[in-house]
Amino acid sequence: MLFICYKGVLNLSYNRVSEANKEVYLFQSSQTYQKVIGKEVKEHPLLEEGRLPDDVVACAGDGSNAMGAFYEFLNDENVKLFVIEAADKWIDTKQHVATMTLGKLGIIHGMMTKVLLDENNDISKVYSISAGLDYQGVGPEHAYLEEIKRVEYYAITDEETVLAFDYLSKPEGIIPAIESAHAVSYAMKSAKTMNKDQILVINLSGRGDKDVRQIVEYRGLHLEG
Ligand SMILES: Cc1ncc(COP(=O)(O)O)c(C=O)c1O
Repeated sequence: MLFICYKGVLNLSYNRVSEANKEVYLFQSSQTYQKVIGKEVKEHPLLEEGRLPDDVVACAGDGSNAMGAFYEFLNDENVKLFVIEAADKWIDTKQHVATMTLGKLGIIHGMMTKVLLDENNDISKVYSISAGLDYQGVGPEHAYLEEIKRVEYYAITDEETVLAFDYLSKPEGIIPAIESAHAVSYAMKSAKTMNKDQILVINLSGRGDKDVRQIVEYRGLHLEG
């Protein structure tokens, strides 16, 4: 199967940048910016532990923070790469934005990739607790990486996400973006199956100060101000 991005960009985040600036060259520069994180993720365990991580986990809406974290590891086959997307209320209401898990081959924003389509093969209406994951497509590089089985894709519900948000915020004092909390939730489950000496990296794509009100409202409470 062929996954194509007609503008020569790998995902929507790059696409937004190049559209705004009308410069195809920005594709290369934004790819360079995303890779900076992956370089650090590779260097730190090598320096501190003398080896690469076992697993790298990232959330995906369009897919750019995950690609940034993964890029340096694509040829390191012993490093397992996981993308976590939003199953949201799928179990109760079928509302979700799990494009890789439940999507089909389609075209969206000039890309041939996995897309969430409705029964008429139109682009679906989607729901997500996290604004940043709320996108019916995904960068075509992910569709390709899934097909060649280099990256595994899983989805996490709202409830699991909110529990992970609390888990990292309270004891650690690190408030993850609600998008990133999807990855934290998956990592909390998978860490239980790992040995203590294994290294699992979670790419925190953003900070969650912006999401505190939403978490409070999810719990049925109200924040003044
Ligand atoms: C904090 C945060 N994480 C993740 C995402 C998802 O985007 P991507 O999958 O392109 O990294 C967004 C998008 O707005 C975001 O704001």
